[in-house]
Amino acid sequence: MPITLRDITKKVGPRLLFENITATFNANSRYGLTGPNGAGKSTLLKIVMGVEEPTSGSVSLPRKVGFLKQNIEQFRDNRVLDVVITGNERLWNAMVERDTLYEVEMTDQVGIRLGEIEEIINEEDGYDAESNAEILLLGMGIPSELHHQKMHAIPTDRQFRVLLCQALFGNPDALLLDEPTNHLDLESIGWLEQFLHNYKGVLIVVSHDRHFLNAVTTHIADIDYETVIIYPGNYDQMLVAKTAVRERTESENKTKEKKVAQLREFVAKFGAGTRASQVQSRIREIERLEPQELKKSNIQRPYIRFYPPEKPSGQVVFKMNDVSKAYDGKPVIHRFSFEANRGEKIGVIGNNGKGKSTLLKMLAGVLPVDSGLIEVGHQVQIGYFPQNHSEVIDKKSSMSAFDWLKRRREGVYDQDIRSILGKMLFSGDDAFKPISHLSGGETARLIIGGLMLCNYNVLIMDEPNNHLDLEAVSALSWALEDFKGTVLIASHDRDLIGNAATKLIAFEEERVRLFEGKLDEYFAVAKK
Ligand SMILES: Nc1ncnc2c1ncn2[C@@H]1O[C@H](COP(=O)(O)OP(=O)(O)OP(=O)(O)O)[C@@H](O)[C@H]1O
Ligand SMILES: [Mg+2]
Repeated sequence: MPITLRDITKKVGPRLLFENITATFNANSRYGLTGPNGAGKSTLLKIVMGVEEPTSGSVSLPRKVGFLKQNIEQFRDNRVLDVVITGNERLWNAMVERDTLYEVEMTDQVGIRLGEIEEIINEEDGYDAESNAEILLLGMGIPSELHHQKMHAIPTDRQFRVLLCQALFGNPDALLLDEPTNHLDLESIGWLEQFLHNYKGVLIVVSHDRHFLNAVTTHIADIDYETVIIYPGNYDQMLVAKTAVRERTESENKTKEKKVAQLREFVAKFGAGTRASQVQSRIREIERLEPQELKKSNIQRPYIRFYPPEKPSGQVVFKMNDVSKAYDGKPVIHRFSFEANRGEKIGVIGNNGKGKSTLLKMLAGVLPVDSGLIEVGHQVQIGYFPQNHSEVIDKKSSMSAFDWLKRRREGVYDQDIRSILGKMLFSGDDAFKPISHLSGGETARLIIGGLMLCNYNVLIMDEPNNHLDLEAVSALSWALEDFKGTVLIASHDRDLIGNAATKLIAFEEERVRLFEGKLDEYFAVAKK
C-alpha cells in the first residue's frame, strides 16, 4: 500500500509552509525528501505519521510505519533493547499491558484480556522481539554489552543509532527517516545504504547528504516554492531537472514580458482613438500572456563570520599531557598528548565511538579527565558547539531565539542581536520564534550565531554540519577558513574537513594519529 497525500496545506504561525500537496509514494521506490533548512521536511513527515495535524487535507498510509525520532532525551531512562522494541508500538503496548495485568487480581475479564493480548504478541512476533532487536543493534555496530544498559549510559552517537534501530524494528511497511546519517560515520552510512537498498516497503528519507541521497534514492520529492515536486532519479538528476524547468519558465516569461510591453505600447498609443476593436483584442492578449508567477525559491545562504577575537589567545592554546579517559572501565582515550597552537585549524576524524566527542568535551572543559593534564593557554576563550544541541538549547523552553542569543553576552545591544539573527536567516518575526519550534538546521544556525556574537578566540565544534543544509555547510566552511583564531572540529563531512582543517587528529583502528597536513594528503598516506 502506498502513502498518499491529498491536498495537504500547512500553516505554522503566520507562515505558509506548503499548499495543496497531492502526491503518492509507492512501495519499492525510495524517495529522498529534500529542501533547505526550515522548508518543512520534518513537519511533512510528522503530518504523514499523524503526530502533527495538517491545516487541511488528508493522508493515507500502510498499517505499520517505522519513524526515526530525533529526540534522545525522551528515552534517557529506558533500556536500549526496550527502546528498539517500542518501535513496534502495537507489540510494546501489548507487552506493557500484559505486565500490568499480571499485577492485578485475576478475574474472568482479566483472563479474557490476557488471551487477546497473547494473540497480539504472537502476531507481532513478540517472543522473538529481543533477539530481533539484538540483530538490528549489532548491525548498527552496537555491541551486546550495551544492549541492557540505560540509554543515558551509552555514548551520544550510539543513542542516535538505537533510535534508528527503533525505526527499523518490526518490519514496517513504510519507513520515514528524518536525517538518519546525522551522527553516523562513513562505515555505518554504508551499512544503512545497503539496508535501505534491500528494503521493499515505501521509503521516505530526509537528508542533506548529497552522496547518501544519490546512493539510495530512486526519486526526489523536493520541497520548494511552497509545494512538493517529485522528480524521478537521484539528487543530482533532480538538481539538473529543477534548474532546467526554472530556466525555461524564466525565459518564457521574458519573451512574454517583451510581447506584453509591445502590446501595451499599442494600447497606450491608440487606446483613446479609433481602433477600438484592435485595442480590445490587444488588452485581452495582454491578460492571456500574464507571465507565470515565479515564486521565490526558499534556498538561502546564511552569512557566517567569526570575527577576529578582541584578545588573541597565547601562542599555545592547549597542551594535553598523557590524558586518559574511560567509561565504565572501558578506555576511550589512552595516554594521549598533543599541543594546539594559535591559529591552527585541527580536524578531528575517525569512526563513531572512537572518542572524538570525548576529546572535544574534555578540551571544552565540560568533561573531567580521569588522569593526565590539560593545560589551557593564556587568555583562551572557548566557544563550544556540542554534538547534541539540547546541551545548549533547551528544546522545551518557550524562550525566543532573540532572547536566547541575548543571554549569551552581557550588555549587548539589541541591534547587534538582530544583525546576527538576520545573517543566520532569522529575519523579521522569525527572530522571535520560540526555540522549541526551531527546525534542526535552524537550531544549529542559532548556536552558530551565539558563537559569532561572543568573539571567542577558540572554537570547538562537534559535528556542526549535522542538520545543516548544503548552503549553510559551505558558508561554515568558508567562515572557518577565514577565522583568525584556533579551531578544533570533528566531522564526517569530507568537504568541510577537507577545506577547513590544516592539521588532523585521526582516530584510527588501533591508535590516534596526529597528522600535519590536509585531509587529501592524509588519505593519500593512509591508503598506503
Ligand atoms: N509551532 C510553530 N510555530 C511557528 N513556526 C513553526 C512551528 N513549528 C515549526 N515552525 C517552523 O516551520 C518551519 C519548518 O520546520 P521543519 O522542522 O519542518 O523544517 P525542516 O525542513 O525539517 O528543516 P531542517 O532541514 O532544518 O530540519 C521552520 O521554519 C520552523 O521554525
Ligand atoms: Mg528537519
